[in-house]
Amino acid sequence: MTFDVIPALLMKFLDFKVRPESESDQSEIERLTAKVFGPGIHVRAVQPLREGVSHEVSLSFVAEHQSQIIGSVRLTKIMWGKNETLMLGPLAVLQRYSGHSAGKALMRAAVSKASDTCLDHQCKVIILVGNPSYYELFGFKKIIPGKITLPRPTDPERILAYELREGALSEMSGPATRCLYSQSKFLNL
Ligand SMILES: CC(C)(COP(=O)(O)OP(=O)(O)OC[C@H]1O[C@@H](n2cnc3c(N)ncnc32)[C@H](O)[C@@H]1OP(=O)(O)O)[C@@H](O)C(=O)NCCC(=O)NCCS
Repeated sequence: MTFDVIPALLMKFLDFKVRPESESDQSEIERLTAKVFGPGIHVRAVQPLREGVSHEVSLSFVAEHQSQIIGSVRLTKIMWGKNETLMLGPLAVLQRYSGHSAGKALMRAAVSKASDTCLDHQCKVIILVGNPSYYELFGFKKIIPGKITLPRPTDPERILAYELREGALSEMSGPATRCLYSQSKFLNL
């Protein structure tokens, strides 16, 4: 093996861990998402659903490399018609660390925690807006067009859902709106 191959191999196996988000991570995560998305985050289709609403810290995760947060995923409670629902996003990994599976690890952690936590709760679905080819890796599927209305126009091909309870999607329809209950009331954590 020549020496110039070694840095490439080290880059391939990025040493990171995924851990639950904590209250003290807030400003670092906000800087990270601002860097990854830029001002465009404010015009995203689902952004109005997050405004003035706390995300569910207990269902959100960060990826950390050498004590630096390099990725984040958050879940926020919304209403879909009359049903409490979870919305996933933003999912962000700093560009210089992308392609090392941090995004996948964050997704798996968030979906798994939501599945465990919501087992006995009314909340039966996670929705998101994103590229189907990425999110179908985690079991997300397209929502039948017309079953959900988002606050801003969105390509229906990118509106995806994951059933926390089998068959739950068949019961859901209506507009997506903000949910203003406190997170502690919601998941009773
Ligand atoms: C999307 C994102 C979170 C992925 O994180 P990551 O750590 O780079 O991804 P991973 O290493 O876990 O996965 C890499 C794989 O995902 C694919 N991928 C990455 N971003 C993708 C996207 N937007 N659409 C489809 N596939 C994507 C890569 O091609 C790669 O495929 P491969 O495994 O077949 O080679 C990251 O690239 C990012 O923050 N992008 C900018 C913000 C963004 O678009 N967030 C999602 C909003 S919907």
